Amino acid sequence: MSEKELLVRKIENGTVIDHIPAGFGLKVASLLNLEKTHSTSVILMNVESKKLGKKDVVKVENRELTEKEVSKIALIAPSATLNIIRDWEVVEKKQISLPEILEEVIKCPNKNCITNYEEINSKFIVEEKEPLKLRCYFCERVFTREEVTS
Ligand code: CTP
Ligand code: ZN
Repeated sequence: MSEKELLVRKIENGTVIDHIPAGFGLKVASLLNLEKTHSTSVILMNVESKKLGKKDVVKVENRELTEKEVSKIALIAPSATLNIIRDWEVVEKKQISLPEILEEVIKCPNKNCITNYEEINSKFIVEEKEPLKLRCYFCERVFTREEVTS
C-alpha cells in the first residue's frame, strides 16, 4: 500500500494487533482498557485485507502486551497477529495462540462457581479451540466463546 493510501500512519514504538476479524476491533480495544491508559491508540475498522476480506487493526503506542492480555485477545480474535514495533520496525511478529490452560484470565460465567465468591483464581481448560470449548476447572461446566467474552 502506498503512503498516499495509508489512512493511519505507522507507529514508532508499541504494538500493532493485525488481522482481527472485522467487527471485533472495539472489543479488543476495550479488553485492553485503552480508554483508561495514557498510550495513544487507534482502532481501524473494515480495512481491506487479502486474507480476510475485511479486518480490524488496533495500534497502541509505547506499550507491549502482557501474557494475560494476549490470552484474552486469543479468546476473541484467534486469527490476530501481534506485531512488536521498535524504532519504526516490526521486530517481532507472532500469531496469537490460545494456551492449553487459562489462569486468571476470565471470570467463570457460572454465578454459583466457587471462584466467584471465594478468593480463588479462575482456571479453565481449553478442551477445543474451534469452536471454542472452555471447561472451568472448579465447577467443571463447559462454556463457549460467546459465553466467556460477552
Ligand atoms: N506497522 C505500524 N508501524 C510500524 C510498522 C508496522 O503501524 N512502524 C503496522 C503495519 O501498518 C501493519 C502491521 O504493523 O498493519 C504489520 O506490519 P508489516 O509486517 O510491515 O505488514 P505486513 O507485511 O502486511 O504484515 P502481514 O504479513 O502480517 O500481513
Ligand atoms: Zn466455574
